[in-house]
Amino acid sequence: MDKALQVSAIKNGTVIDHIPAERLFDVINILSLYKSQNMITFGTNLDSKQLGKKGIIKVENRFFQGEEIDKIALIAPNAKLNTIKNYEVVKKRVVEIPDEIISIVKCFNPKCITNHEEIITRFTVISKKPIELKCQYCEKITTEDEVVIK
Ligand code: CTP
Ligand code: ZN
Repeated sequence: MDKALQVSAIKNGTVIDHIPAERLFDVINILSLYKSQNMITFGTNLDSKQLGKKGIIKVENRFFQGEEIDKIALIAPNAKLNTIKNYEVVKKRVVEIPDEIISIVKCFNPKCITNHEEIITRFTVISKKPIELKCQYCEKITTEDEVVIK
């Protein structure tokens, strides 16, 4: 017998799986899912072989792209995006951190000009695992634990 799913299967939409448990609500926030009209189910602190504890979000009839996926990658670098069509997983992708991050993230340096003027932040990704972002204005490094999404 198949073991029961911890969060019910969906018919059409996206399953964001393997989110670090403590980042679950950050993902909900950066995707503005709290104001979505779509049907959403989620769980956190679920058992995971890979992560120990994981979070999962299932959104009916939403398919994420571009900047939305970059945002997910920044706070949940090992997340897997599963596209569900008629109950089947038709596509599975691992999110990937781009080489340059424009906007999205706040610079960790409180003195950085981007934290004082209306300037779009720009970072060069100097490491993807763990994430290290070098600000193109102040040259300070923002690390994975310090990433705050704007
Ligand atoms: N899923 C779902 N609704 C469906 C089909 C799948 O919610 N109709 C969910 C599953 O519960 C799982 C994820 O989508 O969390 C990926 O499904 P699947 O690839 O079948 O599971 P695994 O092989 O366990 O995934 P992984 O490779 O990510 O470990
Ligand atoms: Zn800076």
